[in-house]
Amino acid sequence: MANKVRKVVIPAAGFGTRFLPATKASPKEMLPIVDKPIIQYVVEEAVEAGCEQVILVTGWHKRAIEDHFDRHFELEARLEKDGKVKELEEIRRISDLADFVYVRQKEALGNGHALLCAREIVGDEPFVVLWGDDFITASPSRTKQMIDAYEKYGTTILSAILTSNPEDTRKYGFVGGKEVDKGVIEVDQFIEKPGPGNAPSNFAIVSGYLFTPDIFEALSAAIPETIEKGQELYYVDGVNKLLAQGKKVHAVEIKNAKYYDCGSKIGYLKTVIDHGLTHEDVNRELRAYLKSLKL
Ligand code: UTP
Repeated sequence: MANKVRKVVIPAAGFGTRFLPATKASPKEMLPIVDKPIIQYVVEEAVEAGCEQVILVTGWHKRAIEDHFDRHFELEARLEKDGKVKELEEIRRISDLADFVYVRQKEALGNGHALLCAREIVGDEPFVVLWGDDFITASPSRTKQMIDAYEKYGTTILSAILTSNPEDTRKYGFVGGKEVDKGVIEVDQFIEKPGPGNAPSNFAIVSGYLFTPDIFEALSAAIPETIEKGQELYYVDGVNKLLAQGKKVHAVEIKNAKYYDCGSKIGYLKTVIDHGLTHEDVNRELRAYLKSLKL
Protein backbone atom coordinates (compact mmCIF):
# COMPACT_ATOMS: atom_id res chain seq x y z
CA MET A 1 0.00 0.00 0.00
CA ALA A 2 1.52 3.33 -1.08
CA ASN A 3 2.01 6.06 1.54
CA LYS A 4 -0.32 9.04 1.44
CA VAL A 5 1.13 11.99 -0.48
CA ARG A 6 0.92 15.05 1.78
CA LYS A 7 3.71 17.36 0.67
CA VAL A 8 4.65 19.35 -2.37
CA VAL A 9 8.00 20.97 -3.00
CA ILE A 10 8.02 23.99 -5.31
CA PRO A 11 11.50 25.22 -6.29
CA ALA A 12 11.35 28.95 -6.97
CA ALA A 13 14.92 30.09 -6.37
CA GLY A 14 16.24 30.22 -9.94
CA PHE A 15 17.59 33.35 -11.64
CA GLY A 16 15.05 33.34 -14.46
CA THR A 17 17.67 34.50 -16.95
CA ARG A 18 15.32 33.99 -19.91
CA PHE A 19 13.15 36.76 -18.51
CA LEU A 20 15.72 39.43 -17.76
CA PRO A 21 15.55 42.30 -17.03
CA ALA A 22 12.07 41.67 -15.54
CA THR A 23 13.58 39.10 -13.17
CA LYS A 24 16.55 41.17 -12.00
CA ALA A 25 14.85 42.07 -8.72
CA SER A 26 11.43 40.34 -8.96
CA PRO A 27 10.70 36.63 -9.02
CA LYS A 28 9.47 35.29 -12.38
CA GLU A 29 7.13 33.02 -10.40
CA MET A 30 5.20 36.18 -9.44
CA LEU A 31 4.55 37.30 -13.03
CA PRO A 32 0.78 37.64 -13.35
CA ILE A 33 -1.43 35.55 -15.61
CA VAL A 34 -4.06 38.28 -15.98
CA ASP A 35 -4.47 38.86 -12.21
CA LYS A 36 -3.02 35.81 -10.49
CA PRO A 37 0.72 35.06 -10.18
CA ILE A 38 1.98 31.89 -11.88
CA ILE A 39 2.98 30.30 -8.59
CA GLN A 40 -0.56 30.60 -7.20
CA TYR A 41 -1.86 28.36 -10.00
CA VAL A 42 0.82 25.85 -9.02
CA VAL A 43 0.04 25.96 -5.30
CA GLU A 44 -3.73 25.69 -5.90
CA GLU A 45 -3.28 22.62 -8.09
CA ALA A 46 -1.29 20.83 -5.36
CA VAL A 47 -3.69 21.81 -2.59
CA GLU A 48 -6.77 20.74 -4.56
CA ALA A 49 -5.13 17.35 -5.12
CA GLY A 50 -4.74 16.88 -1.35
CA CYS A 51 -1.27 18.27 -0.49
CA GLU A 52 -1.40 19.79 3.00
CA GLN A 53 2.11 21.16 3.26
CA VAL A 54 3.62 23.43 0.61
CA ILE A 55 7.40 23.66 0.80
CA LEU A 56 8.67 26.61 -1.22
CA VAL A 57 12.36 26.75 -2.03
CA THR A 58 13.22 30.43 -2.37
CA GLY A 59 16.32 32.60 -2.72
CA TRP A 60 17.52 36.07 -1.89
CA HIS A 61 15.22 38.10 -4.18
CA LYS A 62 12.07 36.05 -3.61
CA ARG A 63 10.51 37.89 -0.62
CA ALA A 64 7.45 38.70 -2.75
CA ILE A 65 6.54 34.99 -2.89
CA GLU A 66 6.60 34.65 0.90
CA ASP A 67 4.53 37.83 1.28
CA HIS A 68 2.00 36.66 -1.30
CA PHE A 69 1.07 33.57 0.73
CA ASP A 70 1.11 35.41 4.07
CA ARG A 71 -1.58 37.52 5.79
CA HIS A 72 -1.66 41.24 4.93
CA PHE A 73 -3.54 42.83 7.81
CA GLU A 74 -3.31 46.43 6.60
CA LEU A 75 -4.73 45.54 3.19
CA GLU A 76 -7.44 43.39 4.79
CA ALA A 77 -8.48 46.28 7.06
CA ARG A 78 -8.69 48.64 4.07
CA LEU A 79 -10.77 46.20 1.99
CA GLU A 80 -13.07 45.62 4.98
CA LYS A 81 -13.50 49.38 5.50
CA ASP A 82 -14.29 49.86 1.78
CA GLY A 83 -16.79 46.97 1.78
CA LYS A 84 -14.80 45.07 -0.88
CA VAL A 85 -16.01 41.67 0.30
CA LYS A 86 -15.02 39.61 -2.74
CA GLU A 87 -11.46 40.93 -2.79
CA LEU A 88 -11.14 40.47 0.98
CA GLU A 89 -12.26 36.85 0.78
CA GLU A 90 -9.79 36.15 -2.02
CA ILE A 91 -6.87 37.76 -0.15
CA ARG A 92 -7.62 35.71 2.99
CA ARG A 93 -8.18 32.50 1.03
CA ILE A 94 -4.65 32.68 -0.40
CA SER A 95 -2.98 32.69 3.01
CA ASP A 96 -5.28 29.92 4.27
CA LEU A 97 -4.58 27.59 1.33
CA ALA A 98 -2.09 25.33 3.12
CA ASP A 99 0.66 25.04 5.68
CA PHE A 100 3.49 26.99 4.00
CA VAL A 101 7.10 26.22 4.79
CA TYR A 102 10.04 28.13 3.30
CA VAL A 103 13.54 26.92 2.78
CA ARG A 104 16.33 28.98 1.24
CA GLN A 105 18.59 27.78 -1.51
CA LYS A 106 21.67 29.87 -0.79
CA GLU A 107 23.15 29.49 -4.27
CA ALA A 108 21.23 28.70 -7.47
CA LEU A 109 23.05 25.45 -8.16
CA GLY A 110 20.26 23.90 -10.24
CA ASN A 111 16.72 22.58 -9.78
CA GLY A 112 18.03 19.25 -8.38
CA HIS A 113 20.04 21.11 -5.76
CA ALA A 114 16.87 23.08 -4.89
CA LEU A 115 15.15 19.76 -4.15
CA LEU A 116 17.98 18.69 -1.87
CA CYS A 117 17.42 21.86 0.17
CA ALA A 118 13.96 20.49 1.10
CA ARG A 119 15.27 17.08 2.19
CA GLU A 120 14.99 17.57 5.97
CA ILE A 121 11.47 18.99 5.72
CA VAL A 122 10.18 16.27 3.39
CA GLY A 123 11.68 13.44 5.45
CA ASP A 124 11.01 9.84 4.56
CA GLU A 125 7.82 10.09 2.52
CA PRO A 126 6.74 10.44 -1.10
CA PHE A 127 6.26 14.02 -2.30
CA VAL A 128 5.14 15.97 -5.32
CA VAL A 129 7.45 18.41 -7.12
CA LEU A 130 6.06 21.20 -9.28
CA TRP A 131 8.09 24.05 -10.76
CA GLY A 132 7.14 27.56 -9.72
CA ASP A 133 7.21 28.92 -13.26
CA ASP A 134 5.09 26.56 -15.34
CA PHE A 135 1.98 24.44 -15.04
CA ILE A 136 -0.20 21.95 -16.82
CA THR A 137 -3.95 22.34 -16.83
CA ALA A 138 -5.74 19.00 -16.99
CA SER A 139 -8.88 17.28 -15.88
CA PRO A 140 -8.43 15.65 -13.38
CA SER A 141 -5.46 17.84 -12.46
CA ARG A 142 -1.90 16.78 -13.27
CA THR A 143 -1.12 16.30 -9.56
CA LYS A 144 -4.24 14.18 -9.05
CA GLN A 145 -3.29 12.01 -12.05
CA MET A 146 0.25 11.59 -10.67
CA ILE A 147 -1.06 10.61 -7.22
CA ASP A 148 -3.44 8.08 -8.82
CA ALA A 149 -0.49 6.58 -10.73
CA TYR A 150 1.64 6.48 -7.58
CA GLU A 151 -1.14 4.66 -5.73
CA LYS A 152 -1.16 2.09 -8.53
CA TYR A 153 2.60 1.59 -9.12
CA GLY A 154 4.20 2.78 -5.83
CA THR A 155 7.19 4.21 -7.73
CA THR A 156 8.54 7.60 -8.77
CA ILE A 157 6.17 9.11 -11.34
CA LEU A 158 7.14 11.57 -14.08
CA SER A 159 4.30 13.38 -15.77
CA ALA A 160 4.50 13.35 -19.55
CA ILE A 161 3.03 15.24 -22.46
CA LEU A 162 2.89 13.41 -25.79
CA THR A 163 4.45 15.32 -28.65
CA SER A 164 5.79 14.46 -32.10
CA ASN A 165 6.99 17.98 -32.87
CA PRO A 166 10.75 17.65 -33.63
CA GLU A 167 11.36 21.14 -32.19
CA ASP A 168 10.23 19.88 -28.77
CA THR A 169 13.19 17.46 -28.70
CA ARG A 170 15.45 20.53 -28.40
CA LYS A 171 13.51 21.86 -25.40
CA TYR A 172 12.42 18.92 -23.24
CA GLY A 173 13.59 15.62 -21.78
CA PHE A 174 12.24 12.39 -23.32
CA VAL A 175 11.92 8.92 -21.80
CA GLY A 176 12.10 5.46 -23.29
CA GLY A 177 11.02 2.06 -21.98
CA LYS A 178 8.22 -0.46 -22.08
CA GLU A 179 4.60 0.74 -22.32
CA VAL A 180 3.07 -1.22 -19.42
CA ASP A 181 -0.38 0.35 -19.61
CA LYS A 182 -1.97 2.71 -22.08
CA GLY A 183 -0.14 6.02 -21.62
CA VAL A 184 2.27 4.57 -19.02
CA ILE A 185 5.94 3.76 -19.65
CA GLU A 186 8.20 1.86 -17.29
CA VAL A 187 11.23 4.03 -17.86
CA ASP A 188 14.64 2.61 -18.76
CA GLN A 189 16.17 5.78 -20.17
CA PHE A 190 15.72 9.51 -19.73
CA ILE A 191 17.48 11.81 -22.17
CA GLU A 192 17.53 15.60 -21.77
CA LYS A 193 16.99 17.47 -25.07
CA PRO A 194 17.82 14.50 -27.35
CA GLY A 195 17.41 16.54 -30.57
CA PRO A 196 15.36 15.66 -33.69
CA GLY A 197 15.38 11.96 -34.58
CA ASN A 198 16.94 10.89 -31.27
CA ALA A 199 13.99 10.83 -28.85
CA PRO A 200 13.32 7.30 -27.55
CA SER A 201 9.53 7.93 -27.55
CA ASN A 202 7.08 10.80 -27.87
CA PHE A 203 6.76 11.06 -24.05
CA ALA A 204 8.16 14.51 -23.15
CA ILE A 205 8.82 15.12 -19.47
CA VAL A 206 8.09 18.80 -19.09
CA SER A 207 6.93 19.51 -15.57
CA GLY A 208 5.49 17.70 -12.55
CA TYR A 209 6.91 14.73 -10.64
CA LEU A 210 6.05 12.53 -7.72
CA PHE A 211 9.20 11.26 -6.06
CA THR A 212 9.78 8.47 -3.61
CA PRO A 213 12.22 9.66 -0.90
CA ASP A 214 15.15 7.69 -2.38
CA ILE A 215 15.50 10.56 -4.89
CA PHE A 216 17.46 12.48 -2.22
CA GLU A 217 20.17 9.81 -1.99
CA ALA A 218 20.23 9.65 -5.77
CA LEU A 219 20.66 13.43 -6.08
CA SER A 220 23.42 13.43 -3.47
CA ALA A 221 25.17 10.65 -5.39
CA ALA A 222 25.15 12.85 -8.51
CA ILE A 223 26.94 15.80 -6.80
CA PRO A 224 30.51 14.68 -7.64
CA GLU A 225 29.71 14.61 -11.38
CA THR A 226 27.84 17.91 -11.36
CA ILE A 227 28.28 20.57 -8.67
CA GLU A 228 31.81 19.44 -7.81
CA LYS A 229 32.71 19.87 -11.48
CA GLY A 230 31.24 23.37 -11.61
CA GLN A 231 27.95 22.28 -13.22
CA GLU A 232 24.36 22.62 -11.99
CA LEU A 233 22.63 19.63 -10.41
CA TYR A 234 19.36 18.90 -12.22
CA TYR A 235 16.54 16.64 -11.06
CA VAL A 236 17.22 14.56 -14.20
CA ASP A 237 20.64 13.63 -12.75
CA GLY A 238 18.83 12.17 -9.73
CA VAL A 239 16.32 10.27 -11.88
CA ASN A 240 19.17 8.80 -13.95
CA LYS A 241 20.90 7.65 -10.77
CA LEU A 242 17.67 5.96 -9.63
CA LEU A 243 17.52 4.13 -12.97
CA ALA A 244 21.20 3.13 -12.72
CA GLN A 245 20.44 1.70 -9.25
CA GLY A 246 17.68 -0.44 -10.79
CA LYS A 247 14.84 1.52 -9.15
CA LYS A 248 11.52 1.61 -10.96
CA VAL A 249 10.30 4.88 -12.45
CA HIS A 250 7.09 5.35 -14.45
CA ALA A 251 6.24 8.11 -16.92
CA VAL A 252 2.54 8.80 -17.13
CA GLU A 253 0.77 10.65 -19.91
CA ILE A 254 -1.29 13.43 -18.35
CA LYS A 255 -4.70 13.17 -20.01
CA ASN A 256 -6.74 16.15 -21.27
CA ALA A 257 -3.72 18.33 -20.67
CA LYS A 258 -2.27 21.61 -21.84
CA TYR A 259 1.25 22.66 -20.88
CA TYR A 260 1.94 26.32 -20.08
CA ASP A 261 5.65 27.12 -20.05
CA CYS A 262 5.55 30.54 -18.41
CA GLY A 263 9.33 30.52 -17.82
CA SER A 264 9.88 31.39 -21.50
CA LYS A 265 8.73 34.67 -23.04
CA ILE A 266 6.58 33.16 -25.76
CA GLY A 267 5.12 30.54 -23.41
CA TYR A 268 4.24 33.28 -20.95
CA LEU A 269 2.50 35.42 -23.59
CA LYS A 270 0.47 32.43 -24.84
CA THR A 271 -0.56 31.62 -21.26
CA VAL A 272 -1.74 35.18 -20.64
CA ILE A 273 -3.77 35.21 -23.87
CA ASP A 274 -5.37 31.80 -23.20
CA HIS A 275 -6.33 32.76 -19.67
CA GLY A 276 -7.45 36.23 -20.72
CA LEU A 277 -9.81 34.62 -23.25
CA THR A 278 -11.59 32.73 -20.44
CA HIS A 279 -11.35 35.38 -17.71
CA GLU A 280 -14.76 36.79 -16.87
CA ASP A 281 -13.54 40.40 -16.47
CA VAL A 282 -11.66 40.75 -19.75
CA ASN A 283 -12.52 37.94 -22.19
CA ARG A 284 -14.95 39.92 -24.40
CA GLU A 285 -12.74 42.95 -24.81
CA LEU A 286 -9.63 40.84 -25.36
CA ARG A 287 -11.36 38.73 -28.02
CA ALA A 288 -12.56 41.87 -29.81
CA TYR A 289 -9.10 43.40 -29.59
CA LEU A 290 -7.37 40.30 -31.00
CA LYS A 291 -9.89 40.20 -33.86
CA SER A 292 -9.29 43.87 -34.59
CA LEU A 293 -5.59 43.19 -35.13
CA LYS A 294 -6.40 41.27 -38.35
CA LEU A 295 -3.01 39.52 -38.29
P1 UTP B 1 14.42 26.75 -14.66
O1 UTP B 1 14.95 25.46 -15.10
O2 UTP B 1 13.45 27.46 -15.55
O3 UTP B 1 15.66 27.69 -14.30
O4 UTP B 1 13.75 26.50 -13.26
P2 UTP B 1 15.82 29.23 -13.99
O5 UTP B 1 17.25 29.39 -13.65
O6 UTP B 1 14.87 29.74 -12.96
O7 UTP B 1 15.41 29.98 -15.34
P3 UTP B 1 16.25 30.36 -16.64
O8 UTP B 1 16.45 29.08 -17.39
O9 UTP B 1 17.54 31.00 -16.16
O10 UTP B 1 15.39 31.36 -17.36
C1 UTP B 1 12.59 25.74 -13.01
C2 UTP B 1 12.16 26.07 -11.59
O11 UTP B 1 13.19 25.68 -10.68
C3 UTP B 1 13.59 26.78 -9.89
C4 UTP B 1 13.17 28.02 -10.68
O12 UTP B 1 12.95 29.13 -9.81
C5 UTP B 1 11.92 27.57 -11.38
O13 UTP B 1 10.75 27.78 -10.63
N1 UTP B 1 15.06 26.71 -9.63
C6 UTP B 1 15.93 26.61 -10.67
C7 UTP B 1 15.52 26.75 -8.33
O14 UTP B 1 14.73 26.83 -7.37
N2 UTP B 1 16.88 26.73 -8.11
C8 UTP B 1 17.78 26.64 -9.11
O15 UTP B 1 19.00 26.62 -8.82
C9 UTP B 1 17.29 26.58 -10.44
